[in-house]
Amino acid sequence: MPDTSSRSPVELLGPAPIAPISPIVSMAPIASKAGATHAQLPRPPSRVPHYLQQVYWWAYVHPRAVRFFERGWLVNAILFGNYTRLRQAAIAAMAKPGEPGEPGEPGEAGEQEGRIPGRSLQVACVYGDLTPRLHKALAPGAQLDVLDILPVQLDNLANKLPQLEGVHLLPGDSSALPMADACYEQVLMFFLLHEQPEAVRRATLAQALRVLKPGGKLVIVDYHRPAAWHPLRPLMRLVFKWLEPFAMDLWRHEVTSFLPAQDPPLKVEQQLYFGGLYQKLVLRR
Ligand SMILES: C[S@@+](CC[C@H](N)C(=O)[O-])C[C@H]1O[C@@H](n2cnc3c(N)ncnc32)[C@H](O)[C@@H]1O
Repeated sequence: MPDTSSRSPVELLGPAPIAPISPIVSMAPIASKAGATHAQLPRPPSRVPHYLQQVYWWAYVHPRAVRFFERGWLVNAILFGNYTRLRQAAIAAMAKPGEPGEPGEPGEAGEQEGRIPGRSLQVACVYGDLTPRLHKALAPGAQLDVLDILPVQLDNLANKLPQLEGVHLLPGDSSALPMADACYEQVLMFFLLHEQPEAVRRATLAQALRVLKPGGKLVIVDYHRPAAWHPLRPLMRLVFKWLEPFAMDLWRHEVTSFLPAQDPPLKVEQQLYFGGLYQKLVLRR
């Protein structure tokens, strides 16, 4: 018998179940609503990336996983009660302060600060209500594209969106975005980068900067190295070791170290949350 005692559950997993590839999900005809850049979209990817299939099949790929994780309370529990705060921080960072809009809901301070103008791209679907709330925060006439490589995730998101206007769901790979250069005012990545191997993470960041307009913002919310005293450090180390093998990269290095060199340099704002376990980065071109 091989010695498996030092191997994580991820390594011990057998072949991952592969979700059936369902048809393209689009909330609107891609070419007619999204303009010329989207008319060039390639066919949907036919292959689930290796890291998603091997490491994250239990979280995103298997249809039962989607049914299991699509629960607001569970998403919030995984983030130790910080989901609402981080969601609000992401939406507030995407919005332009002072942009007129309808008042937000009571208690949604970050989401009341302004509306999200122009064209935005959310790279990868997220469990919970981030995307419906981003949609609600759009300024009149603004557009939100959401791209994901798994059709099962796009199907799930479609079921969470009550209205179709202004939102397009697009199949695609974050490390090879099927959009033209400089076509978005805002790009958002919410807890995506820690799940990607370094080479994919670097390509994803480079692509996000490529599709940003000059003056546009890349908003990233993800894990960060917590303070030395943080009581959850040992637990999170174990979680990452066993379930999220690429996540420690964000403890060891700042996200900016994975960015391609930029000329002129990006303006970077970082805010830490919950003893440093989470971070929000706003990178301006
Ligand atoms: C945003 S991340 C993590 C979100 C967060 N943990 C949550 O609460 O849902 C998960 C999503 O990223 C997507 N994803 C991972 N790698 C991708 C890639 N290379 N291109 C596009 N989507 C990707 C997965 O399909 C999944 O829907």
